[in-house]
Amino acid sequence: MPESAPVLRWAVAGLGTAGCMMLPAILRHPHARLTAAADADAGAVASFARDFQAETYSSVEALCASPRVDAIYIATPTQYHTEHVLLALEHGKHVVIEKPMALSLGDADRMIRAAEAHGRQLVVGHSHSFEPPIRKIREIAQSGALGRVRMLHNWCFTDWLYRPRNTEELDTRLGGGVTFRQGSHQFDILRFIGGGLLRSVRAMTGRGDAQRPTEDAHVVYMEFEDGTPASAVYSGADHFHTTELAFGIGEQGQRVDPTAYGRARQTLQRVGSRDAELGLKRAVRYGGNRAPRPAGPAPHPSFFGLTLVSCEKGDIRQSAHSVYVSGEDERREVPLSTGDTGRDAVVRELYDAVVKARVPAHGGRWGKANNDARCGPTAALHGLIDDATSIPLALWFRPTEDLHGYTTVPGQTCRQYGVPVTLYGDRLSLFRRNDRYWTLGEELRGQQDPTHFACSGISALR
Ligand SMILES: NC(=O)c1ccc[n+]([C@@H]2O[C@H](COP(=O)([O-])OP(=O)(O)OC[C@H]3O[C@@H](n4cnc5c(N)ncnc54)[C@H](O)[C@@H]3O)[C@@H](O)[C@H]2O)c1
Repeated sequence: MPESAPVLRWAVAGLGTAGCMMLPAILRHPHARLTAAADADAGAVASFARDFQAETYSSVEALCASPRVDAIYIATPTQYHTEHVLLALEHGKHVVIEKPMALSLGDADRMIRAAEAHGRQLVVGHSHSFEPPIRKIREIAQSGALGRVRMLHNWCFTDWLYRPRNTEELDTRLGGGVTFRQGSHQFDILRFIGGGLLRSVRAMTGRGDAQRPTEDAHVVYMEFEDGTPASAVYSGADHFHTTELAFGIGEQGQRVDPTAYGRARQTLQRVGSRDAELGLKRAVRYGGNRAPRPAGPAPHPSFFGLTLVSCEKGDIRQSAHSVYVSGEDERREVPLSTGDTGRDAVVRELYDAVVKARVPAHGGRWGKANNDARCGPTAALHGLIDDATSIPLALWFRPTEDLHGYTTVPGQTCRQYGVPVTLYGDRLSLFRRNDRYWTLGEELRGQQDPTHFACSGISALR
C-alpha cells in the first residue's frame, strides 16, 4: 500500500479483555491511528491516557461525538452492543462490533439498517473465522482440490465457565454462557468454511453448575442446505481441554502448561468470594495487573479447539504452525502466512471496506455474501444477519419430550413433527405449548427450569 494511503483514525470502546487484545492489531496496521478510547472504568481510562497520545472518555456517547475518530471498535459488554453501535453509526463512525453482535435478531437488524442509512461500514469481529488457519482451511476446502466437503466439526473443551466472570457473563439474558459467547465462534468457523445456507440446526445446551447458572455446554448438529452435516460441541467445565488435541496450543496461540490441571476452578476456590472474582475480572482491564499485554503475534496460530473438515479425497485440520491435509496417499502440510493474526485481519477488513470499497466478508450482510444465508439466532449470535429487508427465518425452540427438530417455512407444517409454524414480525414463533408461543427471546427469558431447557433449534431458509 502506498505511504500516502488514507489513514483511518480508530477508537476503542471498552478497554477490557477484548479491547486490550485488539489494541496491538490497530497499532500494527500501517494506516491506522489510535486516537481515542472510552471506558466506564476511570482506572482503565487513566492508564490508557498515560500510555497513548489519545483522547479519553468515560462514556461511549461522548467518544462518538469526537471529530477525531473515523472508526470505533466496540468491545463493551454484549448487552450494550446495540446502543453503542447505533450511537457510533449515528455519529457517522464506521464500526467493528465484537461478537456476539446482538442479543436479538431485531437488534441486529437495527444495526444493519443504521449502517446502511448512514452509509457506514459495519464489521462483526473478532471471531475465529478471521484467524489464518481457518482461512486456509476454507481456501483448501473451497478450492475443490479434495472434492466436495462431506462434513465439518468444531469441538472445543475449555475452562470458560470458571475463568473470572462478570455478572453478565453468567447471565444468558445478557449474552452470557458458552452458547452465546463461544458458540458464536464455532458457528462462524463452520459456516465460513462450509459456505452456504444452513437448512437446519438441532442442539442441546446444558448447565452443569447451579452456582454459575448459564450454559456451560452444548452439542449442535447442523445441516448445510446441500445436506452437508456439521457439528459444534463445547464444554467450558474445566475438565478435559481440547488443547490436548491441539499440540498444547491455546486460543490465543499461546503454549498451555499441560501440568496445570483444573487451574481455573482451583483459582476460583482459592479467591473464595464473588467480590474477589469480580476483582480478578476487573484486573484484566487496561492497566490492570492481569491485562493482556500489547505484544506481537503469538508463537503459534490461534486454536479454537479441534476443527476437522472431511472432503471426498481427504481431511483437513490445523497443525502447530500450518494446516495438515491428509489425502489419499500422503499427509502434506500447507504453510500459513506468518506474522498475521485474526485481529490484524479484522482491522484490515474494515480498512479495506472503508478505503477500498471492498465488501467486508464479515459485514452485516455476511450471510448474503455467503450464499444468502438466513440463520436467525445463529446470525444474531455472531453477526451473520444478511439483509435487513429479508425476513430472518429463525427457528429456536425447546424440544421437549414430545417435540424435536424440524425444518420448515412460515405457515407450513413442520416436515418431521407436524408442528405448525407462524411468523411474527422478525421472529418466528414455532409452536404453541402450554398456551405459549415459543420464540428465541421468550425462550431465553421465559426459562423456568434450567434442566428442562434442553435445546434450541434453528433453521435457515430462503
Ligand atoms: N473475540 C473474542 O475473542 C472476544 C474475547 C473476549 C470478549 N469478547 C467480546 O467482547 C465484549 C466484551 O467482553 P470482555 O470480556 O472484554 O468484557 P470486559 O468486562 O473485560 O470488558 C468490558 C469493558 O467495557 C467497560 N464498560 C462496561 N460498560 C460500559 C459502558 N456502558 N460504557 C463504556 N464502557 C463500559 C468495562 O469497564 C470494561 O473495561 C463481549 O461482547 C464479548 O463477547 C470477544
